Amino acid sequence: MQTPLILAVTAALAILLSGIASKADESELTEAFMTNAEHIELGRTLFQKRCKFCHGKGAYPGKAPKLKPKKLTTEQVYTRITYGFRAMPGWEHEFDDHERMALTAYIKSPVFSN
Ligand code: HEC
Repeated sequence: MQTPLILAVTAALAILLSGIASKADESELTEAFMTNAEHIELGRTLFQKRCKFCHGKGAYPGKAPKLKPKKLTTEQVYTRITYGFRAMPGWEHEFDDHERMALTAYIKSPVFSN
């Protein structure tokens, strides 16, 4: 009857390790990443394609609030895009980590507008 215990320990370890992995990802949102022009441009392109119809000026009124990136930390922008926020679903399965980080860089950049 040792097997269930081993399985439980393995599962717990897996959860723990995936938690560590996702923390490491977020800590890669460095100043250098956030200010890189290529990342900002990728984020801008993705935002035009997938986010603007809810968040943009031309969006149907009431679809989504105007984003106010100055009121959010970098981590908040990244986690809200990744896991969703209240009425907005997460984008974890649509965009890979690099793309979600690029969106974060764009939203926090001086060229962002919505
Ligand atoms: C289907 C419409 C829709 C789409 C598409 C959408 N969002 Fe949202 N988003 C929302 C809504 C609605 C909220 C606000 C949720 C609330 O406050 O209840 C929100 C909230 C957010 C927030 C948090 C704002 C805050 O003040 O905390 C961020 C950041 C964000 N969206 C980024 C994005 C990005 C990046 C994309 C594209 C990948 C995107 N959204 C696409 C509807 C959408």
